[in-house]
Amino acid sequence: MDRMDIRDALASEPDEREITVAGWVRTLRTSKGGFSFIALNDGSCSQTLQIVADNTLGNYDDEIVHLTAGAAVAATGPLVESRGRGQRVEMQARAVRLLGPADPETYPIQPKRHSFEYLRTQAHLRPRTRTFAAVARVRNALSAAVHDFFQSRGFLWVHTPIITASDCEGAGALFGVTALDPDAPPRDASGHVDFAQDFFARRTYLTVSGQLEAEAYACAMGKVYTFGPTFRAENSNTPRHLAEFWMVEPEVAFCDLGEICDLAEQFCRAIISAVLDRCGDDLALFDERAPGLVDRLRHVADSDFARITYSEAVDILQAAGRRWDYPPRWGADLQTEHERYLTEEHFAQPVVVTHYPAAIKPFYMRLNDADRAGPGGEPTVAAMDVLLPGVGELIGGSQREERLDALAGRMREMGMNPDDSWWYLDLRRYGTCPHAGFGLGFERAVQFVTGLDNIRDAIGFPRTPRNAEF
Ligand code: 4AD
Ligand code: MG
Repeated sequence: MDRMDIRDALASEPDEREITVAGWVRTLRTSKGGFSFIALNDGSCSQTLQIVADNTLGNYDDEIVHLTAGAAVAATGPLVESRGRGQRVEMQARAVRLLGPADPETYPIQPKRHSFEYLRTQAHLRPRTRTFAAVARVRNALSAAVHDFFQSRGFLWVHTPIITASDCEGAGALFGVTALDPDAPPRDASGHVDFAQDFFARRTYLTVSGQLEAEAYACAMGKVYTFGPTFRAENSNTPRHLAEFWMVEPEVAFCDLGEICDLAEQFCRAIISAVLDRCGDDLALFDERAPGLVDRLRHVADSDFARITYSEAVDILQAAGRRWDYPPRWGADLQTEHERYLTEEHFAQPVVVTHYPAAIKPFYMRLNDADRAGPGGEPTVAAMDVLLPGVGELIGGSQREERLDALAGRMREMGMNPDDSWWYLDLRRYGTCPHAGFGLGFERAVQFVTGLDNIRDAIGFPRTPRNAEF
């Protein structure tokens, strides 16, 4: 169909030429004088185009006056100056074709406010609502901004595997991948399932991170990034966790912790600025839901992030004079309540926390020198997390352990067999170099710029425990 996007139609001058638009009816208003006003949306922008249909149209009495929310319609006619408020042009319809009716008795998206909980049960139809259409457009703009940022800085986008044999984060939250018959898997002599007979002749999983493979490319191409889906089988029913989420992972050779912190901060600020520039109308909608949102985004885009070490964070938390569910203690991981206190109250801006205890971080992080040790001499690593108001941890990253012996030692300490990761260690055997990277949780970024409370609303078809309907 040769049709014009409603976004372009709304930006046009009145014009005698006929155009065609097509979309879904938001509302229909019929006036006594033999006129109907159809508010039509096609997803290209948040606004509707007003289609004025009159009773000279052949299907006026049979179809047009019976149109209801959700019906698919194509309308043809010239754009004329609108007498209505808030729009420059409207269409004076010469033809309105009903392509697909939507039975108002059963259509799940009625023209009224639905709760987000309800709309999650209608994930296939919720992009028809103003809010979820806006989320989809913001998500698109944010994705484009990710690529713009890295492409303009000479990074290569590399595609890392979804199926993997390694547990990058060592957290054990892996979904297994197998082609064996679950009812009758082959077994070895000791009765265990024999994965040597599986498709890949070994145990395989959905990846939790593309980092390890990104490191291989960074240590050849210099600056790379991945942007793809990652999977975690952690049973966390929180407003910040998904079982399937998208991660942006830059990896940079000849880069240390301070430089990767700089990159993370520039990256966050750049993608927020891009969405402010490109999605004004959509952000205005979210600003109505969460007043002050746009001002907060501008502030974050324009100001430096705070930077503290983990030890300083623990001191701040201990001095806060609060009753914590988990009292802060050096050596324990920062809890959500701690992260939120730091970024929402103490600093009231994004915070980069560095130099965490080695014991709570994965094997690949670079061990710091003794002068960075904890109060009891505990080793720390060159880790960095970026914490944001409202979402907590947005980014996790580190300088990588580039020293072969130190890396193999760390692996053994953590119960891993370095031989299993022979190729990863080869990167340290041949031409090793200091390098660093981070991972940004893409849905948490969408959450931050839209102000949405629940991460399940930041992705079209969320995957969470006991939920993969669509
Ligand atoms: O801190 P994480 O676990 O870091 C890594 O996976 C590193 N390998 C990344 C790297 O250095 N290349 O995860 C990175 C980010 C977190 O900060 C968080 O924003 C997001 O991924 N994330 C999740 N987002 C949604 N649901 C989950 N279950 C998430 N787990 C992590
Ligand atoms: Mg993390």
